[in-house]
Amino acid sequence: EVIEAGGMLVLPGVVDEHVHMREPGLTYKDDFEHGTKAAAAGGVTTVVEMPNTLPPVDSAERVAEKARLLQGKAYVDFALYGVIHDGSVGRIREMLDAGVVGFKVFLGPTTGNIPPPRLGSLVEVMESSEKYGFTVAFHAETHELVEYFTARYRAQGSKPSLHDLARPPLAEAHAIRTIGSIQEHAGGRSLIVHVSSKQALEAVEEFKRRGVSMYAETCPHYLVLSADDYEKYGPLIKVNPPIRGRDHAEALLRGVNSGLIDTIGSDHAPHAPEEKSGDIWSAASGMPGVQTLLPLMLDLALRGFIDVRRIPLLMARNPAKLFKLWPWKGEIAPGSSGDLVVVDPREEYVVREEDLYYKHKLSPYIGWRLKGRVKYTILKGVVVARDGVVEGKPVGSWVRPVR
Ligand code: NCD
Ligand code: ZN
Ligand code: ZN
Repeated sequence: EVIEAGGMLVLPGVVDEHVHMREPGLTYKDDFEHGTKAAAAGGVTTVVEMPNTLPPVDSAERVAEKARLLQGKAYVDFALYGVIHDGSVGRIREMLDAGVVGFKVFLGPTTGNIPPPRLGSLVEVMESSEKYGFTVAFHAETHELVEYFTARYRAQGSKPSLHDLARPPLAEAHAIRTIGSIQEHAGGRSLIVHVSSKQALEAVEEFKRRGVSMYAETCPHYLVLSADDYEKYGPLIKVNPPIRGRDHAEALLRGVNSGLIDTIGSDHAPHAPEEKSGDIWSAASGMPGVQTLLPLMLDLALRGFIDVRRIPLLMARNPAKLFKLWPWKGEIAPGSSGDLVVVDPREEYVVREEDLYYKHKLSPYIGWRLKGRVKYTILKGVVVARDGVVEGKPVGSWVRPVR
């Protein structure tokens, strides 16, 4: 097909290294078909799927089962994470052989209730990371501190903004320093996902300066929302780590522009309506976001908050490199010329509920006016979405790293 692209921006297809599509086991929240359609509509051509499903992906068998289950439902390419807990740290090699592109470690409590590994297991996973060359993605919040502050602030009522205090920047920075100091001993490569505070950024900067292979991801919600929004959205924007004050968002924007932040992931984390309403303490954490990932970043760029030239690096090249999706041997790589997004930077539009492909359309961005519309999403040379409408069959495939 020939596309008339006068005045358009042509970008590499987005690699979103942080999605929770909820299959298997949690499909009442959402599923792979809805999730990958949403990805395609929003300009994402590869997703790296998190392992906190039911059951969690913590063995070779579960990697194979999940891949089998998702094949044929994918509207974009997908890769899989395995999860490290004390029981699975001995299965790293078998999960690599089964085709995971990296591992996830949950240091803090969040959806899935995967217990944090002991420090010895962290040493082992970073030694394996060094040996085999994979990236370990960390949910960096120290469990014990989150428990302590949650108990403390819970007693003060149920204002949504208390969620921020219950999981303070201290918990985040403390976990990052644990990871970094283990890396100084054991080596390996880490990606600190969903960095939400300036204290966390400072901790990352410290280790980077000291030559530790530590990378940082942030998400659009930490850039475009702030604690002022709790009043309007309540539990809808409850997420781990929390949305914080304006000053944190500004520090993160500076980090995006300076190169301190390496990737932007969506942390697409859908839940059912009954889980996202009511009391702030009992509400589930996370919100869907894969469809608005690129649109929100384009909007920030076209309004002058970030340099548009950083988008291909942050949202395609860097995540593809971290998870060995690029350069791809002998085939068209995700993020290479076969996967493209064509954007009209002149077009302004309003995010409408009916345009979202999520099973539950619980997005705080409904009604937002954004600049820069995704016109075409092209996967391996084939148009998979046009003007936000997904077309054709699920032609996405499972991608495994070249080792
Ligand atoms: C995520 C989820 O629901 O899977 N929730 C969230 O608040 N971010 C898990 C996670 O990334 O911590
Ligand atoms: Zn997390
Ligand atoms: Zn997540």
